[in-house]
Amino acid sequence: MTTATREPRTAAGAITRLAAILTARGINPATEPSAAPEPVTALESADARIPPRYRHALADHPRTTAWVTEIARTGTTGPGGAPGIASGPSLLIAGPTGTGKTHQAYGAIRSLLAAGVRLRWEATTASDLYAAQRPQHGANPEQQLGRLTRSPLLLLDDLGATKQSAWTEELTYRLVNHRYNHMLPTLVTTNLPVAELRDAVGDRVASRLAEMTERVILTGHDRRRRTAAS
Ligand SMILES: Nc1ncnc2c1ncn2[C@@H]1O[C@H](COP(=O)(O)OP(=O)(O)OP(=O)(O)O)[C@@H](O)[C@H]1O
Ligand SMILES: [Mg+2]
Repeated sequence: MTTATREPRTAAGAITRLAAILTARGINPATEPSAAPEPVTALESADARIPPRYRHALADHPRTTAWVTEIARTGTTGPGGAPGIASGPSLLIAGPTGTGKTHQAYGAIRSLLAAGVRLRWEATTASDLYAAQRPQHGANPEQQLGRLTRSPLLLLDDLGATKQSAWTEELTYRLVNHRYNHMLPTLVTTNLPVAELRDAVGDRVASRLAEMTERVILTGHDRRRRTAAS
């Protein structure tokens, strides 16, 4: 299954898109050689932030594409009239190891960018979040948590994969509760069956996720292995 996205994969594609942007703004690219160069497209600059493994990920699950459509449809008007991201539903992508959860999540971000949605986004795994929150010289954990908490779009990858403690539970709660209260779109992935999330992340987090997320349940074999038996 594939998702139709329109995105420049080559330099020629980027130039065509740039010409379309200029034309839409009433600037003839052929007669305006001095026009300031447009910044690279959001998708191109986002590509640099997406881990190489997922740089070409396509969100091909119907529920993921439906979520992308919903977020793009209900967005606000951002800078330059481009659609921006607003409050909206979140997505919980669950399934066993290697079934493509992170792929779907980055694919969703890429689809939004390819659709022209201007968005600031952040991505972290739950374990990286906890590691960065440990007191360390020169770091500002509160600032880092605030950046993730308030980001218009957040990918929180691998929730529940780390052994939980009261400390990790409280951190997760602060993050999820803020995003729940402000209805900020959040992509959450987990290896755990949804029914086991409560034990892993605590009732307060699981309850909020139950209300704020739509579900994508991935099944099948571990795509990292050539055969299911290997
Ligand atoms: N729909 C897809 N089409 C093509 N390749 C895919 C697809 N989904 C996943 N993959 C590939 O399969 C591998 C595993 O995907 P991914 O890392 O997203 O799995 P995961 O469910 O997040 O695993 P984990 O639970 O270990 O985090 C990656 O190499 C990824 O690029
Ligand atoms: Mg993953």
